[in-house]
Amino acid sequence: MQEVLKCPHYGICGGCNLQHIPYGRQVELKGMEVSRLFGREPDEIIPSPRISFYRNRMDYVVGPELEVGLRRRGRWWAFVDIMECLLQSPESNTIRNAFRDYIRRRGLKGYDTKRHEGLVRYLVIREGKFTGERMVAVITSRPAHEGLREFAGEVESIVSSYINGVNPDMFDSSRAKSTMTIAGKDTIEERLLGYRFRMKLNSFFQTNSYTAEIMLRIVLEESRGSKNVYDLYSGIGTFTVPLADIVEDAYGIESDPESVELARENARVNGSSPTFYTARVESMGRLDADTMILDPPRAGVHPRALRLIESSQPRRIIYASCSPMKQAGDIKKLKGYRLERLVMIDQFPHTSHVETIAILSK
Ligand SMILES: C[S@@+](CC[C@H](N)C(=O)[O-])C[C@H]1O[C@@H](n2cnc3c(N)ncnc32)[C@H](O)[C@@H]1O
Repeated sequence: MQEVLKCPHYGICGGCNLQHIPYGRQVELKGMEVSRLFGREPDEIIPSPRISFYRNRMDYVVGPELEVGLRRRGRWWAFVDIMECLLQSPESNTIRNAFRDYIRRRGLKGYDTKRHEGLVRYLVIREGKFTGERMVAVITSRPAHEGLREFAGEVESIVSSYINGVNPDMFDSSRAKSTMTIAGKDTIEERLLGYRFRMKLNSFFQTNSYTAEIMLRIVLEESRGSKNVYDLYSGIGTFTVPLADIVEDAYGIESDPESVELARENARVNGSSPTFYTARVESMGRLDADTMILDPPRAGVHPRALRLIESSQPRRIIYASCSPMKQAGDIKKLKGYRLERLVMIDQFPHTSHVETIAILSK
């Protein structure tokens, strides 16, 4: 495996911070940090199968001078006009650079986050690494599909979904309040372990499809033999849909209605039959579960949700997290459980982030 990337923007760009360290050492350092947080070494440390072009989503920010790229290291208000990024794909580089030329040619205005004026805020590119599908979304401060339409012709051979997402809020985010499909479909599909998953612009999906397959394999392996499995924070059903094929009853709980709609569609497309509830986990009553899967957002599990888990008394808890610090804290609060297995998966090479899966039993 190639050990060091040769990124022309490294050091200035805030996207990666570990590229100067050979990949094997990056993984070792993350393993040490996980050991420190949990007070024990992980049972397995799994590197990413790919260390370049591994990401299936990039959110490129557009600056007031029509820079299209990422934020500067340590200076979130300044931008790096990215010409080549080694995290997503060569096609992603082609699209971003062509998009910059397009908005400059058309004289569109970049969004200024200090003055809160201008139009173009983000360029989001999503890819199905195992399907070859690709979504391009331009996030603007007001609907702008007419001015963006001609760009479709420049990328149609490599893009299956082209969208204008609108975020009119002052809050700086690539999440769209509303969307308009300019060309192609409004979803793209990814495939993990043979299961098909449709997602939209705003849907959560594990950002490294290669390690997502490993995560899914572990979740399935650890749930085998269970009767009632509750997948809390189930998103578009990445775990719940395959789970329904191997356990008696699989349930997903997710607060975002659009994700639940997609999860139900994903169940139908794969011919599996889990049950999904649209709800905040912390608002649920006691659940009849022998296994619970937790994959909360970075902020961790809400204190009320921790109490719900304790009162439901599942035999087994499979807790996946992109914030081992929060996860270790939550696990300490869960009374009556033993940490049986701890797996570290390097989902985010060249950054200091890492994914961990903790298996707890009574
Ligand atoms: C890290 S993602 C995990 C999704 C899924 N397990 C997967 O692997 O694709 C967290 C999900 O939790 C949802 N979420 C956030 N807060 C929630 C809450 N309080 N109750 C239920 N779902 C929540 C988000 O919308 C998101 O889909």
